Amino acid sequence: MTRVLFVAALAGCGFHAQGDPVGGSVTLQGQLRDFKTQNVLVDGTATVVVEGQLSPPPVVTVAGVSFTIDGVLENSLVDVVVAVPPTHHATRSSILFVTDNFEEAPVVVDEVTLASLAAAAGATPRAGHGMILAHLVDDAHQPRLGVLRSELALADVGASTVKGPVFLDGTLAVAADQTKTSGEGWVAYFDVLSPGLPTLTAAPNASVNMAAAIPIGDDVVSIAEVIVGTGTTPPLPANVSFATQVFPLFTSLGCVGCHAANGGGKDAGLDLGGGSPHKAYTELVDELRPGTPKFRVDKEHPTQSLVLTMPSREVPPDGHPNITFTGPSDPAYRLIQAWITQGATEN
Ligand code: HEC
Repeated sequence: MTRVLFVAALAGCGFHAQGDPVGGSVTLQGQLRDFKTQNVLVDGTATVVVEGQLSPPPVVTVAGVSFTIDGVLENSLVDVVVAVPPTHHATRSSILFVTDNFEEAPVVVDEVTLASLAAAAGATPRAGHGMILAHLVDDAHQPRLGVLRSELALADVGASTVKGPVFLDGTLAVAADQTKTSGEGWVAYFDVLSPGLPTLTAAPNASVNMAAAIPIGDDVVSIAEVIVGTGTTPPLPANVSFATQVFPLFTSLGCVGCHAANGGGKDAGLDLGGGSPHKAYTELVDELRPGTPKFRVDKEHPTQSLVLTMPSREVPPDGHPNITFTGPSDPAYRLIQAWITQGATEN
């Protein structure tokens, strides 16, 4: 499954105009793969839409089933919704990280496969609802087999009447009568309320753990890679230091690209630049967000802290110009969450 066709090239510092975010931009080029055969598509005309709360929005050019996405902000997380009508249904790729160089070519699901999965689930793809194709894998990205239906929970789906999971076999067709993951480790859900951001988690008392936040779009198939661990959810990291563990993240995650110098994030009020942990600490813990009664760190409700919510994906989206954290299981997110949970001290 590692066919690298998705080329990302660093295009220098593309966003230096006044008021625009400071930081490099990236060009993504790729072709599409068929979900079922994994082969690159040759025929058809694709539609490609970039999702991921990016401001300014990137520019997409499509030629047949090849595409180029220009001006994607570095250190951001995007996904693309691609379709090749009438053969392939609108499919939301799993997350693409625009930091490193290579990603896999996005997949699109053909209508025949989708219809057979929907029939197995007793569902009909329809407006107001989306679908999920989740790939359950281990730490090494190998299929995670034997995860039981009773161990899977789709949390925060509101009033929707989710159908599934349907299990897929090694040929990515319906594995009739299966009650656990087999083959390549894929499961499908239908009739998930849209828009939404449900989390695929382990049910209470499961022998596995997972936490993948999956964005749902109207009549779109969302592809998600879900890393499944063994045992209960591991505890948050212990004794997290602000100066040596949290503060360096603001550079490695690219926050200072905008929250320093003449960046838009600094103009908005939060300055993480200057290399001083003490100054960043003060801004995060002791200073209110301009015009609001909110500190950027919320010690009472750690996961509601602006430092975690602003660079995260939300439905509906907040005003932040990019997304950095993949979700609640993102190691950087968990490190900051742990530090706040431990009292957000200047340690
Ligand atoms: C592309 C530029 C950009 C990047 C990269 C960026 N930010 Fe921001 N950030 C902004 C802008 C612009 C705002 C103001 C948004 C608004 O007002 O709705 C903002 C707002 C915020 C706020 C609320 C600010 C306030 O005054 O309270 C927080 C907290 C924040 N960002 C944290 C982060 C963190 C942490 C990172 C890195 C993981 C990050 N940002 C990366 C541009 C950026």
